[in-house]
Amino acid sequence: MQTIDILVATTSGNTEYMADQLANELQQAGFTTTMHYEPDYSDLMESLTDNSIWLCCVASHGAGEYADSMLDFAEELHTHKPNLSTLKYGVIAVGDSCYDTFCSAGRDCDAMLAILGAKRLITHLEIDMSQDDPDEKSSTWLQSFIKSL
Ligand SMILES: Cc1cc2nc3c(=O)[nH]c(=O)nc-3n(C[C@H](O)[C@H](O)[C@H](O)COP(=O)(O)O)c2cc1C
Repeated sequence: MQTIDILVATTSGNTEYMADQLANELQQAGFTTTMHYEPDYSDLMESLTDNSIWLCCVASHGAGEYADSMLDFAEELHTHKPNLSTLKYGVIAVGDSCYDTFCSAGRDCDAMLAILGAKRLITHLEIDMSQDDPDEKSSTWLQSFIKSL
C-alpha cells in the first residue's frame, strides 16, 4: 500500500483541519497516510525512499512566512538544500487574498521542492480563505492529485 506523508504548516488550525480531511479521503482511496503536524527535517530526510510522496498543506502567516508548525522545517530545507530527486510531491497553499504576500509560503514550498529535484505531480492549489470553500476546493484538487500518482 502506498504511503503519503502529509506535511502541515499551520498556526491557527485551519490547515490542520483541511489536512485531516484530505487524509481521510486518501485512506478511503486505499492509501496509507502519515501526518506531520510539525514536520521534522531530520526525520523526513531519514525516511525518504524511492517511493516517497509528500502532500504539503502550507498556510502563509506573518509577511508571507510559513505558518508556525513548519517554520523550522522550511529554514532547514533552505539551509541544507538536500537532493530530493527521489521525491514526488504536491502542494496546497493556504492564504488570504487581502495580503500582498498571498500564499507566498505555499508558493515557496512548491518552488523549493522542484529546485531540490523533487517531481511535482500536479500544479499546486491556492486556497483563498476569504473566498473559497477550503474543503470543497481541496477535495476536488485531491482527485487530480490521486490520478497523478
Ligand atoms: C497574522 C496573520 C498573517 C497572515 N499573513 C498572510 C500572508 O502573508 N499571506 C497569505 O496569503 N495569508 C496570510 N494570512 C492568512 C492565513 O493564511 C489564513 O488565515 C489561513 O487560514 C491560516 O491558516 P492556519 O489556521 O492553518 O494557520 C495571515 C493571517 C494572519 C492571522
